[in-house]
Amino acid sequence: MNNLAIDNSAAMNEMDFCSVQIQSDIESTLPVSFCNIIGQSQCMQDIFRIIEKVADSDSTIIIQGETGTGKGLVAKAIHDKSHRRDKPFVQINCGAIPENLLESELFGHVKGAFTGAVTAKPGKFELADGGTIFLDEIGDMSHDLQVKLLKVLEESVFERVGGCQSITSDVRVIAATHRDLEAAIENGTFREDLYYRLFVIPIMLPSLRERKSDISLLVRHFLAQLNTSKHTQVSGISAKTVELMTAYSWPGNVRELKNMMERMVVLTREGEIYPRDLPLKLRTGIETEAPVAVPDISMSDEGLCLNTAVNEFEKALICKSMEISNGVKKNAAKLLNIKRTTLIEKIKRHHLEESFSI
Ligand SMILES: Nc1ncnc2c1ncn2[C@@H]1O[C@H](COP(=O)(O)OP(=O)(O)O)[C@@H](O)[C@H]1O
Ligand SMILES: [Mg+2]
Repeated sequence: MNNLAIDNSAAMNEMDFCSVQIQSDIESTLPVSFCNIIGQSQCMQDIFRIIEKVADSDSTIIIQGETGTGKGLVAKAIHDKSHRRDKPFVQINCGAIPENLLESELFGHVKGAFTGAVTAKPGKFELADGGTIFLDEIGDMSHDLQVKLLKVLEESVFERVGGCQSITSDVRVIAATHRDLEAAIENGTFREDLYYRLFVIPIMLPSLRERKSDISLLVRHFLAQLNTSKHTQVSGISAKTVELMTAYSWPGNVRELKNMMERMVVLTREGEIYPRDLPLKLRTGIETEAPVAVPDISMSDEGLCLNTAVNEFEKALICKSMEISNGVKKNAAKLLNIKRTTLIEKIKRHHLEESFSI
């Protein structure tokens, strides 16, 4: 890993400086990881134990949880921990494929079965032979296909679309959905018999807001991962930033957190991540900056020119921050909570180049 030591200059905002560093801290408190799933909270530890227990059983599993909670990761972990690990793990998103294509995707089709079926094609159930099939978003499957799927699960045989030859495939079925299937049964969109067939071993994944203690672990994990994949050198994330992230409700769960980290790491590139780098929705309602002391303002009867006054105030703040930072622009920019490049632009705009050697 790159040298990620944090700039420990005295000019840094002290309150914010107790940051999550990704160099030494990460080694002393390694995030608990299980088959690429990060989580140290009790509920995630319980999930890891369940995965270990059920992996080798070949029983059908249904994973439930809000979007982005890691259902796909858990399905893959179960496969990887099972005796099927050297055989295929085949996944299909039942919600993303048009209904008329889903059947042939699942079970394959014979040549000429429908317009466009110019050659015979095996389906996912055949391709997964010996391994695991992961039926993602099963709650989005049409009623007709639910009937066909139930038949396959009960009898372990199926036919390709347009064919009459029975095919058997030795597959372990893992299904997942973000929907409340019991409510779906109530309103008639999900078949009760299929529900009971799938509910052999249910696994319920907690939302991120139910395991907030994992947020800083995930932040560190993604920071390290992104520095490598994006060739960036972000050295840490301030404690205040993590605090704001912990206070947020994360409707998109870990997926949302991961994408937010990517955005912040790519835009920050080096140095630390601060609250100002967070999307506005995480900052609103919570005071993130120390209130600015406004100097005494005297105003004559003629009034003043607002633009000139604001410009003069900005100039004075730039000079002050450069003075405190002994002319180090990077530190002065941090004091003003702006980017170094923005500070340089402002110095130029106010014709202060000579004072600060640009
Ligand atoms: N506990 C976790 N640790 C690390 N990464 C995670 C975790 N949970 C989810 N992710 C990541 O978040 C994203 C969404 O996960 P996914 O399994 O597709 O969620 P779901 O299927 O529940 O919508 C993926 O990029 C995944 O790698
Ligand atoms: Mg998914």
